Order: sequence, then C-alpha cells, then structure tokens
Amino acid sequence: MKTRITELLGIEHPIFQAAMSWASSNSALVIAVSNAGGMGVLAAGPMRLDDFSRVLKEIRNGSSKPFGVNIPLNNPKAREMLDIAYQARIPVMVASQGGPREHLARFRGIGTKWLHVVASVEHAKKAEAAGVDALVVDGAEAGGHPPPSEVGTLVLVRRVLQAVKLPVVASGGVADGAGVAALLALGAEAVQLGTRFIATPEASVHDDYKRAVLDAEVDQTTLVGRGMHPIRLLKNAFSAKYEAAERAGASRDELETLFQEYSLKQAALRGDVEWGKVEAGQSAGLVHEILPAAEVMRRLVNELEAARQRLAKL
Ligand SMILES: Cc1cc2nc3c(=O)[nH]c(=O)nc-3n(C[C@H](O)[C@H](O)[C@H](O)COP(=O)(O)O)c2cc1C
Repeated sequence: MKTRITELLGIEHPIFQAAMSWASSNSALVIAVSNAGGMGVLAAGPMRLDDFSRVLKEIRNGSSKPFGVNIPLNNPKAREMLDIAYQARIPVMVASQGGPREHLARFRGIGTKWLHVVASVEHAKKAEAAGVDALVVDGAEAGGHPPPSEVGTLVLVRRVLQAVKLPVVASGGVADGAGVAALLALGAEAVQLGTRFIATPEASVHDDYKRAVLDAEVDQTTLVGRGMHPIRLLKNAFSAKYEAAERAGASRDELETLFQEYSLKQAALRGDVEWGKVEAGQSAGLVHEILPAAEVMRRLVNELEAARQRLAKL
C-alpha cells in the first residue's frame, strides 16, 4: 500500500509504532517494527544522553530500515538530544511539544524527514507554516498526552485534513487493522498505534504494566491533569485519589503537587500499577494478547487487507 507517508519515509506499510516513554525507549521494539516494514519510533524523552547514543547505534546495527526518534522539544535535555540525533543522522524525527521551526534547516540538510505531533487544528496549521514534512495527529482516545480539548481522533483528524495539505499520521484509539483501515478511509496516510505495542515482549515496561493493559476494558482509562497537562492512564489508586481531590475542590497548586508525586517511571520500571501513572489509551480494551512486535505487524497488515476487502464487497 502506497501513501504519501510510505513514499516520504520509504516504509512498506502505513503503520507507526508510537513513541512511548520507557515502553519504546529501547532498541528492541523499534528494530522489530522497522524490520517488519513499519515505522518504529524511539522515545528519547526519559533517556539518559549516553543511553540515547548507545541505543541509536544498536538500532543502526539491528536494522537497515528507516526508523524514527521522538524528542519532546520542551524537554530540558532537548538541545543535547537534538545534537546527538543530528550526529547520528537519524532518518525520521517525530518531534512533540514545542516549536520545530528553528531546527528544520539543520535536519533537512542531512535528509531527515521531520514529522510533528499535534493535538489541535491550530497547532497543525502552525507546524505546516513552519515547514514540517508531515503531521502526527493525536485524538482524545490516545494514551499519554491527548488533546486538552478532548476532541476524539475521528473528528480531529478529519478536521485537520480539511485545514492543512500535509500528509497526516492518525493516532489514538487504534489497536487492530480494522482501526487502521478506518483512519486511512478518513484520509490519514498512515496510522500510529501506541498501547497495542505495550503488549509485546519487546516493550521495556514491567510485566505487571503489560498485564494491566491486557486486563483493562475500554472504559477503564481516565484523564488526569485537566486544565494543566492532561494524561490518559488506566484507572487506579492514583487516579482515584487525584479525581477525589478535584471533586473536593483542591487548588491548582495542590493538584499539581499530587500530579508530580506519582510517575510513569514508577509504573513502567517498578511495576507499581496501583500508584504509578499507567499511561495507556482507550484501545487497551481492544488488546487481549502479548505478541511479538513482528507478529503484531503481520496481523495488522492482514487485518487491514481483510477490512479493505470487506468494504469492497459491500
Ligand atoms: C505509555 C505511553 C507513553 C507515551 N509517551 C510518549 C512520549 O514520550 N512522546 C510522545 O510524543 N507521545 C507519547 N505517548 C503518546 C503516543 O505516542 C501515541 O500518541 C498514543 O499512544 C496513541 O494512542 P494509543 O495508545 O491509543 O495507540 C505515549 C503513550 C503511552 C501509552
């Protein structure tokens, strides 16, 4: 299947494994997805700089296929990370949370394709005006950082497609090939899956985190941090405590303190799925099995084809 995204990036399938802090902050997942013809994306955000350099080398050794690197541009270490990514001549940047303009010329000079993650029409237009190559559009179902507006993927992606000319990678709420087909039908030119890839042996989070994703139903995520920096996570003791404080009228400062007290790392590395931030999308309810990432890719491609055939027969 050829789209402007597969052509731009030189990938076989219009499928991205989303950047996920900790879960995709390792080489194994990225290598497996890229070698299977998708776009594996390394989440640099939580990595130490020396680990980031090392993992980039591991990816180069493990795959000759294109891969992406996510750097949140508001990260205090973003400048150093950008320098490392530049020196490694990464093929694809998937930048988030910050303005891309000042970095584009440098990366374009080494042939890097720059994709920008946006969660609103306004930011989509800004990124297009800045000159990025393509957009990743996150809707409200997404795990991690969904749009503060809470507009769902189906509506937001469609609206962004009306507002810009750039190719769009749709993200949020997809865990199988039928979902990929749905968003391609909408006009997206690739589809990104995060939560589905947490349930793989290659994802570097604690087994209890993976099990929590498998056990979750579609209604067992919630948004924490509304009005600040909302994140979607599985409901647990932390989210219950936070929501109780909100209901009780806690001040912004109190909520911020509570928000900072618990972390994604606590859930991802130590397996504290009760009090840690177990970031995951609503699509957790669609994920029932831990499968090797290459097998996830194989099934996605087959299911996408089956969905196409089903539609063609209607
Ligand atoms: C555990 C987790 C960590 C995430 N970390 C990041 C990150 O570091 N950078 C980023 O741009 N997006 C991050 N995201 C968002 C994903 O890139 C993607 O938009 C989202 O997972 C898509 O929704 P889905 O989970 O329903 O597939 C994260 C998502 C999850 C579930």
